[in-house]
Amino acid sequence: MINEISKVIDLNTKKEERVLDFSDFQKQEIKFDIDKLQEAYSQIVKLKKFEDAGVTHFGAISLTQIPGDPDSVKGNKARGIFWTKPDKSGKEVVRDQAIDESAYSEFITDYENTYFKEVYDILSSRYKLGRMRILLKEPRSTLSWHRDPEPRLHIPIITNPGCIMVIDNVAKHMPADGSVWITNNTKYHNAFNGGEENRIHLVACVLDYNFN
Ligand SMILES: [Fe+2]
Repeated sequence: MINEISKVIDLNTKKEERVLDFSDFQKQEIKFDIDKLQEAYSQIVKLKKFEDAGVTHFGAISLTQIPGDPDSVKGNKARGIFWTKPDKSGKEVVRDQAIDESAYSEFITDYENTYFKEVYDILSSRYKLGRMRILLKEPRSTLSWHRDPEPRLHIPIITNPGCIMVIDNVAKHMPADGSVWITNNTKYHNAFNGGEENRIHLVACVLDYNFN
C-alpha cells in the first residue's frame, strides 16, 4: 500500500514544497465594471444568437471580424484550430482550421453602443488581440482536453463556483468581479461548468503575450 501511495505523492518532498503552481493563470492589473459587463452581455444577446460551431453545450458570439467580412465570424470561424488527444492511443490530432487572428481588427458596429466597445478599445491599446468573443459554456458540460495556438484573455461575466478551468494539472475558478486573466492555452487544458446556470466569459486571443 505504501508503495502505491509513493507513486502518486513523493513522500520525500518537504511539506512546504507541495504547492501548486498557478503561473499559467495570470491576473492582469486592469479591472472592468462587472455590472456594466453584465448589462452589455444582456444587450448583445438581444441582438445576436450564439454560434455553436457544431460543438455541444458551447456557444460563441464574435465581437470582432475581418474588416468588411461578416462571414469571418460564422460557423467554424467561431471556433478555430486546436489539438486534442481523443482516444486511448494518446496520440495528438488536429481539429478544425487555422484562423488568421491578426486579421480580426474590426469591432462589429452592431455592438458599438455597448460597454464591450470601451473594453475592446482599452484592451487593444495594451495587447495585440485576435478575435474577441463572448463564450457560453452550458451547465454540467465540459470542453475537450486540448491546446490552442495562443494564450487567451478571460473576463468572467457570469459564473458559479463549479466553473473551473484546468491547465495541465492545475485547476482554478475565475470569479466574475471585473478581473482580467490571461491563461496559458498553449498547454493542454479544459474548462467545465459544474453548475446549473450558463457560464459566460469574454475571451480574446492574445498574440503578443509570453508565459516564459
Ligand atoms: Fe482552449
